[in-house]
Amino acid sequence: MQITVIGCGYVGLVTATCFAEMGNRVSCVDTSTQRINALQRGEAPIFEPGIEALITTNLRAGRLAFSTDTAGACSRAEVIFIAVGTPSAADGSADISQIVAVASELGRTLDQPAIVVCKSTAPVGTACRVQSVLDHQCQRRQVAWQHRVVSNPEFLKEGAAIDDFMRPDRVVLGTDDADAERVMRALYEPFVRNHDRILCMSRRAAEMTKYAANTFLATRISFINEIASLCEQLGVDVEEVRKGIGSDQRIGHHFIYAGCGYGGSCFPKDIRAMLQMAAQYDMPMPILHSVEARNQQQKTWPLRMLKRELGNLHGRTLAIWGLAFKPGTDDIRDAPSLVLLDALLAGGSSVQAFDPAASDNIAQRYPEAVKEGQLKLLQDPYAALNNADALVLLTEWKQFRQPDFHLVAQRLRTPLVIDGRNQYDPQTMASLGLRHVGVGRQVAPPAAPVLREVV
Ligand code: UDX
Repeated sequence: MQITVIGCGYVGLVTATCFAEMGNRVSCVDTSTQRINALQRGEAPIFEPGIEALITTNLRAGRLAFSTDTAGACSRAEVIFIAVGTPSAADGSADISQIVAVASELGRTLDQPAIVVCKSTAPVGTACRVQSVLDHQCQRRQVAWQHRVVSNPEFLKEGAAIDDFMRPDRVVLGTDDADAERVMRALYEPFVRNHDRILCMSRRAAEMTKYAANTFLATRISFINEIASLCEQLGVDVEEVRKGIGSDQRIGHHFIYAGCGYGGSCFPKDIRAMLQMAAQYDMPMPILHSVEARNQQQKTWPLRMLKRELGNLHGRTLAIWGLAFKPGTDDIRDAPSLVLLDALLAGGSSVQAFDPAASDNIAQRYPEAVKEGQLKLLQDPYAALNNADALVLLTEWKQFRQPDFHLVAQRLRTPLVIDGRNQYDPQTMASLGLRHVGVGRQVAPPAAPVLREVV
C-alpha cells in the first residue's frame, strides 16, 4: 500500500518504519529540514532501541523515503497518517492546532480522495473536526470526492515502541465508513495474529479509548503508591501486598509497582487533557484529580526520605542512578528526577548522577549547575558514588538491578540507599551493612497510630 506519514516525531517514525518493514511504500514528511536530512542519512532524531536499523534497512530497500514536501509526498497516497504533536496548552488542554493546519493543507492540495488517519493523541471530537476541515476545502475546490477520516490511536511504550507496534495487544479503528474500515483492516492484518485484535468503533469512542487507557494505567500507579504510603506507616512490605493482589486475575500484575511516581510524555499530559475535556462540560472528575495530585506527592518521596535519614541536606553530596522517566529512553519529561534535582540544587546539595541515556538532556536543563560543578553527570555509575552521603535509585535500568554492592558500600560515605523503584532486597542490603529505604517497605517496626479522641 502507498502510505504517507506526516510528522517524523516519535509516533510518526515508529508508525512509518513499521509499515515499511511490512512491505508498504511509506513517505514520511516533516517541516524540519534538519530532521529530514538526518533521517535521509539513516540517523534517528529520537532514542528508541532498534529504530535506526529499521530506518536504514527500509531506506535501502526503497520502501521508505523522507521529505519536507507534504503535497508531493501525499500525491499518490491511499492512506495518510497525521502524527504531529498535540502539546499541552497553558490550561492543560491538548493543543490541536498542528493537526488542524495539516488537515487544511491536505484539503487544499490533495488531488485524489484519501483515507486520513488521526494517529496523534487528541481530544474527543478531533477526527470530526479534521473531517469538516477537509470537507470544507473539497466544497471550496468543487471536487467530486470526499476524504474519509479515521481515528487510530497508538498504544506505544517508549523503549518498546517497535515491539508494541509489531505485536499490538489491539488495534483501535474509529470509523463508520465500511470502505475505510476494509482498507485499514488490510493494512493492520499482518500485525495481528487474529482479527479479534482489531476493534472497530466510532471515531469519538476511539479517541476516548486512548485517554481512558492511559488515565486508567496512571490510576493504578497512584493507587499502589497510596497503598505503599500506608504500608510504610503500618510496617507492611508493599511488595508482598503487590504479589498478593496481582495474583487475582481481575487485578493482574501489570502497573501495580510502587515507585517514585510516573512521568513521561503521555500520562501527565493525558490526565490534564482529560480533566480539561471534563471541565468544558462542568463535570468534576475527582478520581483523576486525585491521581494527578497523588503523583505529584509521590515524586517528592525520594527527597522526603533523604531528609528523614540525613536531616539537613545543605552541603551534602548525593548520588543518583537513573534520570530518565523510565528505563530504555532518554526522555526526562515530567520525570521524578527533575523534582529531586530542583530541590537538591536549590537547597545547596551537590549531585553526582549517572544515567545510560538521559545525561545530555539533563545537562541542557541545568546548564548553570553543570558549569559550576554542583551537578556532575558521570559516565560510570560507581564514580557517582564517591564520597556521597546516599545513593538514590530513580530509574530501574537493568544494569542497576544487580550492582556490585560491596563496591557501593565501599564508595558511599554514608551506607544509605534510597530505592525509589524497589529493586533491591532489604535483607540482602542489611546483610551488607547498607541501610535500605524502599517505597512502602518500612524496615522499622510500625509506628503507633495517632490516636484521636472518640466523641
Ligand atoms: C504510556 C502507555 O503505556 C502507552 O500505551 C501510551 O501510548 C503512552 O504512555 P510510556 O509513557 O512510554 O507509555 O511509559 P510506561 O511504560 O507506560 O510508564 C509510564 C510511567 O509509569 C513511568 O514513569 C513508569 O516508571 C511508571 N510506572 C509504570 C510505575 O511507576 N509503576 C508501574 O507499575 C508501571
